[in-house]
Amino acid sequence: MLEEMLMTHSILIKAFLGFLVLGLFIPFMTKNNSLKFKKFSFMFTMIFQGLATMIAFAGLIAVVSEDLGFATTTIIMIAIFALMMFLEIKKYKGIKKANLSDALVFKSSRASFLKVNVLQIFILVAMVIMMILRAKGILSI
Ligand code: HEM
Repeated sequence: MLEEMLMTHSILIKAFLGFLVLGLFIPFMTKNNSLKFKKFSFMFTMIFQGLATMIAFAGLIAVVSEDLGFATTTIIMIAIFALMMFLEIKKYKGIKKANLSDALVFKSSRASFLKVNVLQIFILVAMVIMMILRAKGILSI
């Protein structure tokens, strides 16, 4: 059960990374259509939340079913999960409220979409690197 859950956790993290990288294209693909940008942004956030929740769920099942306890790495992961969700919701709310028919606002909304997406990728990759270093015994947390 533990191995299956951690395998699921790991596969979902890779899928999540692929999804975040694909999301980088959204501001460019929708450059000439603010309505399309808003629609894609909404769909992106919904899928983001679905994937992040599945990752957290698989992680939590592993912790609970095997009585792993809340190790430092698990606490870091929960904090990262909360941070990523917070950033995503804040980004989405900003885009939803923005008056995208104003060219300047549209441009800055696309820029902030890109900025937050790059930050999310950075956080995720940092977490993966941290877990690899830990598995190799280079990092002792
Ligand atoms: C509620 C949220 C989460 C819980 C409870 C959780 C729990 C866990 C647990 C118990 C492990 C196994 C730890 C070990 O091998 O010592 C693990 C592995 C891992 N988690 Fe999480 N996790 C959560 C969210 C996340 C998130 C959001 C990320 C990415 C940003 C993440 C990235 C990883 C990585 C990269 C591994 C190593 C996977 C591997 O060895 O293949 N986790 N997680």
